[in-house]
Amino acid sequence: MALPLVLLTHPLPPEWISTLQGRVRLLVGPAEPPGFAPHLLEYLGEAEGIFCLLTDKVDQALLEAAPRLRVVSNMAVGYDNIDIPACTRRRLPVGNTPGVLTDATADLAFALLLASARGLTKAALDARDGLWQTWSPIGWLGADLRGATLGLVGLGKIGKAVAERARGFGLNLLYTDSAPQPAAESALGVQYASFDQLLRTSDFVSLHCPLSAETRHLINAQTLRRMKKTSVLINTSRGAVVDTDALVNALREGWIAAAGLDVTDPEPLPPDHPLYDLPNCLIAPHIGSATHGARRHMAELACENLLAGLEGRPLPHCVNPELND
Ligand code: GLV
Repeated sequence: MALPLVLLTHPLPPEWISTLQGRVRLLVGPAEPPGFAPHLLEYLGEAEGIFCLLTDKVDQALLEAAPRLRVVSNMAVGYDNIDIPACTRRRLPVGNTPGVLTDATADLAFALLLASARGLTKAALDARDGLWQTWSPIGWLGADLRGATLGLVGLGKIGKAVAERARGFGLNLLYTDSAPQPAAESALGVQYASFDQLLRTSDFVSLHCPLSAETRHLINAQTLRRMKKTSVLINTSRGAVVDTDALVNALREGWIAAAGLDVTDPEPLPPDHPLYDLPNCLIAPHIGSATHGARRHMAELACENLLAGLEGRPLPHCVNPELND
């Protein structure tokens, strides 16, 4: 019997996807540009599985061109690139890769927080540019962490891992989410607050919610103006949770003090974007999960989801709620 055809949108190290060997026929897309390459689109009609990245759009039109599809496996924890209701209508399971990238992403959120709090980018550039003439008692002053308040928007796995790290730095912790989580409150020393309360009282606001219709532009001109002028915004979730134009104004005009972003809208940000000109904005190229271990585990988990879908078993991590019953 012929092996099922799987479209893998981007090349991956063979040792990360070794479990697929002898079990599927792989058609692999190029490293660039992102998305489904023309030679993959040609084979949609035959494909039984899709193994894709967060940069690949799986929408109604693509699904309609793929009548034999039995599983979509996204190598990411976020899945806003996929039309989940359209997949569910076809009873097509969609897999994601939670857990294995939690520490890497929380570490990066904390790296951005520390670097933004201490103006590390500018300080390092100043040193390199010869502006470090002497030890200055009033030069390169940053924010104190101990005793300051960190507000977590979203207390899922990554939000909780950031809370764990923050405790070690003596930060007070607030969180907001769709509902209070009493077990997490006692385990992590976090306190529930409304979104408004959190914005008004936090010295650092870190975003850990998925992108959805409800969270798109959650951080906008109105909500940025509610934050403290001395506060720092950290985003390791999805760029579109923040209204980029409003953030440019906020950083230019001092509504908030600084931002540390691992995600932007659009993504990538064009090199001439005004955010790059702001000394109080640190931007990383969406590298939250970019450690050797996390990325390998994400690929392995994506393989497990893919094989389960092709073999008609429940996916280890299936995101369509209706297919999990
Ligand atoms: C990364 O952003 C992911 O969703 O895995």
